[in-house]
Amino acid sequence: MEPYQSAKEEIKRAVDIVELIGQFVQLRRAGLNYIGLCPFHSEKAPSFSVSPSKQMFHCFGCKKGGDLFAFWMNYHQVSFPQAMKDLADKYHISLPERHPFHSGLGQANALETLYKLNETAAQFYQRLLTRSDKGKTGRNYFEKRGIPAQIISSYRLGYAPDEWEGLTAFLKEKKVDLEKAVQAGLIIPRKGGGYYDRFRARVLFPIITMRQQVVGFGGRVLDQSLPKYINTPETPVFRKGELFYGLHDAHNAIREKGRAVIVEGYTDVLALRKYGFHEAVATLGTALSRDHLRRLKGYANETVLVFDADAAGKAAALRSLSIFLDEGMSCRVMVLPENEDPDSFVNKSGLKPFLESLDHAAPMFDFYLDLRMAGAEGRIERQVQVVQDMSPLLLGLRNHVQRALYIRRLSEKLGIAESWVLAELSKASRVSSTRERVDNRSDEGLVNFPSRTADDRLLLHLFVHYPQVIEQFAQRNLRVLLSDAAVLQIFDLMLDAFHKEGRLAPERILERLDGETAGDLLREAIMESSIYRRDEVDQALKEFEDKVHRLRIAKSKQKALGNVEEANKIPKLIKKRWG
Ligand code: GTP
Ligand code: MN
Repeated sequence: MEPYQSAKEEIKRAVDIVELIGQFVQLRRAGLNYIGLCPFHSEKAPSFSVSPSKQMFHCFGCKKGGDLFAFWMNYHQVSFPQAMKDLADKYHISLPERHPFHSGLGQANALETLYKLNETAAQFYQRLLTRSDKGKTGRNYFEKRGIPAQIISSYRLGYAPDEWEGLTAFLKEKKVDLEKAVQAGLIIPRKGGGYYDRFRARVLFPIITMRQQVVGFGGRVLDQSLPKYINTPETPVFRKGELFYGLHDAHNAIREKGRAVIVEGYTDVLALRKYGFHEAVATLGTALSRDHLRRLKGYANETVLVFDADAAGKAAALRSLSIFLDEGMSCRVMVLPENEDPDSFVNKSGLKPFLESLDHAAPMFDFYLDLRMAGAEGRIERQVQVVQDMSPLLLGLRNHVQRALYIRRLSEKLGIAESWVLAELSKASRVSSTRERVDNRSDEGLVNFPSRTADDRLLLHLFVHYPQVIEQFAQRNLRVLLSDAAVLQIFDLMLDAFHKEGRLAPERILERLDGETAGDLLREAIMESSIYRRDEVDQALKEFEDKVHRLRIAKSKQKALGNVEEANKIPKLIKKRWG
């Protein structure tokens, strides 16, 4: 066995997939497996399943699945060698020297270069802040903002001096390919040739992922000049629309509490953290997106959005409501007093009042309703508009009790009968139901395997859960019952393995399947509980055998139309089978 293969086996032995995935997805036990909300597609009811005995995961909704490496690769968007390296590091397993990770590997290497460059830059800026004369300005700034050394160190804060070629010179000296540093967003090419630093005369907030990798920076000016903040531009490792500031430090607390608190600014996260509040993260100055929520919902059941009292914050809250409803994540909104943000608020009043308002944060729906209603009292057109605006949202609520309560709330607030709101809703539902049908189609289709016949699916279950059946099945020439190419491929491989090894574990076949569909199909069958009970297997096999005979007879009959010889075979066929 090559060393690379043995390292893979060793990681598999050392790491429990339920424990690993449990760090990113909230799992609960359901029978033999664990289930949770799939981190790879949008869903409200769990179809993501993890099997401790098979050490495998599978989503019955989007069909993503595989072993722990597949999870890591998909979740963190990394290559296989990178996943091996990450897991080996995480679980202190040593990899062989000649791991492919160390050699040239196109895509993986390109990303790895960006990570490395960001790391190099982070160290450069960190050192400047904490250990250089030039960094004094930065140190003073953080001191003035009340950010202690311990936070400066754990959030790896830095300082970019007021120079055009600080980092550029440093990278040059280190013989870094400067074009790569341009791709990482760290430096910018000059028109006449050469490069200059993107971040100058700013304190820096590195954006660090859960894998503890620096992927970019936010930089703040030290005075009143504009723009107040600049960020790393979009790069393959820096996608603002799905990253949170502070998650590298907050994710354990978020998982333990089941709650994430989303604030607006970098300094808000740090101030809360200073007061011992660990569950806060911030978006990077962008609106909250679906991708953001998908990242969180693995370990948070609930989100609290903390907004400044200004109008922009409220507008942002309004825009996110439908995303929360769609993703099935419960959300509350906390609004701070006029002219305060979490940073100024806790620095002035401490954590306790913050926690109290957090407890009293209104469900987002109520918040939304109140905002929409403001100023609508007594104005009929506005009130009608409110009902119409609310309809799609109300229809989007899966929890029917909740929906009923909100309908009542809405009608009370408007001072009209519930029946009027209901009438408006049913109008809206006729419009939206066409749309919903289209949206749901893919889910249903996948569950029912429409392209496969029922036999394909039933037989696949038989083979997977009762592998000993395979041989009898082959001996009795029942292969004709299979019509789906993927199922045929699985069957042939299983039979082959059975002949070679005498026994077989269907999981082992997974590695040998090339086509994605066949792999997904087999994994799904393995993860499903068997359609057949053990005592039904013989009967099932017999029924399939009968079916094949009936098929043969039907075929003969067809041929026999006008063919005496074929016609004479039929009674014989019947007699042979049923006596
Ligand atoms: P401090 O003024 O240092 O307390 O920062 P803040 O986080 O309170 O700033 P503010 O409330 O103005 O902005 C909230 C967040 O929006 C910031 O943390 C940034 O992520 C982002 N942001 C603010 N101003 C700018 C800007 O000029 N450009 C960009 N790209 N982002 C900004
Ligand atoms: Mn602030």
